Amino acid sequence: EKGGYPHFMLKEIFEQPRTITDCIRGRINVKGTNVVLSGILDNKERFLNARRIIFVACGTSWHAGLIGEYLFEDLCGIEVKVEYASEFRYRNPVIHSDDVVIAISQSGETADTLAAIELAKSKGAFVYGICNVVGSSIARATHSGTYIHVGPEIGVASTKAFTGQVTVLVMMAMMLAKMKGLIDEEKYREVLRGLIAMPDNIKEVLDQHEHIQSVASIFTYARNFLYLGRGCNYPTAMEGALKLKEISYIHAEGCPAAEMKHGTIALIDQEMPTIVIATNGSVYEKTISNIQEIKARGGKVIVVVTEGDCIVAEMADYCIWIPKTAECITPLLSSIPLQLFAYYIAVNKGRNVDQPRNLAKSVTVE
Ligand code: F6R
Repeated sequence: EKGGYPHFMLKEIFEQPRTITDCIRGRINVKGTNVVLSGILDNKERFLNARRIIFVACGTSWHAGLIGEYLFEDLCGIEVKVEYASEFRYRNPVIHSDDVVIAISQSGETADTLAAIELAKSKGAFVYGICNVVGSSIARATHSGTYIHVGPEIGVASTKAFTGQVTVLVMMAMMLAKMKGLIDEEKYREVLRGLIAMPDNIKEVLDQHEHIQSVASIFTYARNFLYLGRGCNYPTAMEGALKLKEISYIHAEGCPAAEMKHGTIALIDQEMPTIVIATNGSVYEKTISNIQEIKARGGKVIVVVTEGDCIVAEMADYCIWIPKTAECITPLLSSIPLQLFAYYIAVNKGRNVDQPRNLAKSVTVE
């Protein structure tokens, strides 16, 4: 059932062109002029009147929530909070009856996320779910929701579920932005067409697997890694670091690129490689100066850049490119090389990629 791949994780990484297609099917029309999610349509008033959106999730799903924060603030003008379910449930969080709580969970069985949902419901909030497993506990406990429809995820390290979650969040934010009259037609269509083109764009990234494997081989014996990104690629950087930690057992840390100089930069030397997501967009120039700071301290830099970039590519030691796309959906592309990078390092180290030590696929105990 691994479809000829040596591990489920690799199969699931390579499945992403198809899983994104499945995720948007029947939701975005062929022309890319409209997106409809029935869960949003059925609860239109709840979403339009939402005072805040509060994401609750754990791990990779929490990273997807952080990307959701950028999307909903930027495109829909709604105040957003992103909470670790495990922290949220044990505080006395302020929850208003006009807050919309969105729980994100691949398995739909994560105990902390489920408890956070029950707490939010008890305070009168409307709770929406973004799940993969149909009929799971979280799917049933929420008032409504959207499935990501990426198929069973067997590898313990989440890959295709993450890109499915982000895809659903983009579709939700687009729909809401349109309903609120906050997005112009041109941008709306640019993003929808970007999602339609995403499977082909992901294929282009996957086609670089041999190159990514060779870069991974060079860094297999590094003891620590730093991952940097800004904007919606900051959560992507954290997700890349988590993937590496989980399956290779190498320590890694995701950090907002500009925050590095407030402490983390002290770690930089020849032994501490940095992966920087430096794609074109609003924070591109700023990220360049962060790369210079690392290079000046002898650090090795691997960059993820937009196709055609030569400025950053020249400065870096190794370069992986992704196709150009609308800025708010770049995490769907920039996360792919980070998944592959973690995978190849773990394989080089002889790790049990699909079932890393100490981890379970769904955490049903707190
Ligand atoms: C990371 C990973 C975990 C899960 C987390 C939440 O690769 O798999 O961090 O993301 O345990 O799980 P779900 O999404 O099933 O609630």
